[in-house]
Amino acid sequence: MEASRIAQSIGFTLDRFIKNNQEQFQFASGELSQLLRDIALASKVVNREVNKAGLIDIMGPLGSQNMAGDDQQKLDVLADIRFTRALKKGGEVCALISEESESYEDLNNDGKYVIAIDPLDGSSNIDVNVSIGTIFSIFRRISKVGGPIQQEDILQKGSEQVAAGYILYGSSTMMVYTTGHGVNGFTFEQSLGEFFLSHPDMKAPEDGKIYSINEGQANSFPESVKKYVQDCKDNKMTARYIGSLVADFHRNLLKGGIYIYPPTAKDPNGKLRLMYECNALAFISEQAGGMATDGKKRILDIQPTTLHQRVPFFVGSKKMVERAQSF
Ligand code: AHG
Ligand code: MN
Ligand code: MN
Repeated sequence: MEASRIAQSIGFTLDRFIKNNQEQFQFASGELSQLLRDIALASKVVNREVNKAGLIDIMGPLGSQNMAGDDQQKLDVLADIRFTRALKKGGEVCALISEESESYEDLNNDGKYVIAIDPLDGSSNIDVNVSIGTIFSIFRRISKVGGPIQQEDILQKGSEQVAAGYILYGSSTMMVYTTGHGVNGFTFEQSLGEFFLSHPDMKAPEDGKIYSINEGQANSFPESVKKYVQDCKDNKMTARYIGSLVADFHRNLLKGGIYIYPPTAKDPNGKLRLMYECNALAFISEQAGGMATDGKKRILDIQPTTLHQRVPFFVGSKKMVERAQSF
C-alpha cells in the first residue's frame, strides 16, 4: 500500500478554506475572512468551556434574565463575553446584536460589518450534557465607515446577509457556514485545535422523514399546524426534537426533515428570534437547497422592525416545508 494512502489526509483547515475562497466574496478585501476566523477562534474557547462545564462552576442559572425574560445561564453570558471580545479585538465589526443584550453594542467605528449572534443556543440543555450551539449572521454596514451607526445598518433583511453560520457543540464540534456560495461544514479536531473541512458543499435532501416540533404545546398550535403534524403521523414520519435549534436543524439538514416553531398561546409569534436565530438558518437552508418561511412568507424577505422580534419558523427540506405551508 502506498505510504500516502496509509497516512490518510486530514485535508483542508478552515483557515485555508476561507483564504482560498476569499475571492468568491464580492468585496474581497480580506476583512470578512478575518471576521470568520475571529468567530472560529471564539468558538474554540467556548467549546473548551462547554467541554469542561461539568467540572467547573459554569453550569446552572446566573440568577438574571435577558431582555426577553429568559433566565440567563452562566454559559449564555460567558459565551456572549467570548464572542464579543473576539469581535472587538478583531476590529471588523462596527455593531453587535446579541440575544443577551437589549440594545446593540458599538464595537469599532471603522468596522465594515454588523453581526447578529445567539452566543449560546439551547440553554436548557447545558446542564444535561446535550448538544448546544452558536448562531451568527453577518451584514455589510450601509452607513459611512467611521460615522455613527444608523438604524439602517442594524435592521437589515435576512436577504442582505453576506455570511451566516452556526457552531454545534455536539458529540463532535462543527462549524457550518455560507457566504452565499453553498454551505460547507468543518469538524473540530481537538488535539490539533483546528477545524477541518469534513462536509463540503452540503445539500439538504429535497424531501425527508423527520419532523421536529415541541408537540407538548400542540393544544395551542394553529389548526393548520395541528393538521400538518397529523399528516406527518399519517405518513409514518419520525419525530425528533432535541430542543436545541442548532442541533435539530443540523440533523434535519443532513438527513432530510422539517423543523417547526409555530405560533403558540404562550408565544403568538413563535419563540424564535428573527435576527439571530432564523435569518442565519434560513440563509444556510436555502443555500443547501432547502426552504425557510414563517408559514406564509420567506424568512429572508421579512423586514425586521425590532432587534429581538420573534417569528414563526418552518425550515428544512423543500418539499416538507411546501407541504406544511399548503395546510
Ligand atoms: P436559547 O437557548 O438561545 O434561548 O434558544 C432556545 C430555543 C431553541 O434553541 C430551541 O429550539 C427552542 O428554544 C426550544 O423551545 P421549547 O422548549 O419551547 O421547545
Ligand atoms: Mn437560541
Ligand atoms: Mn441563546
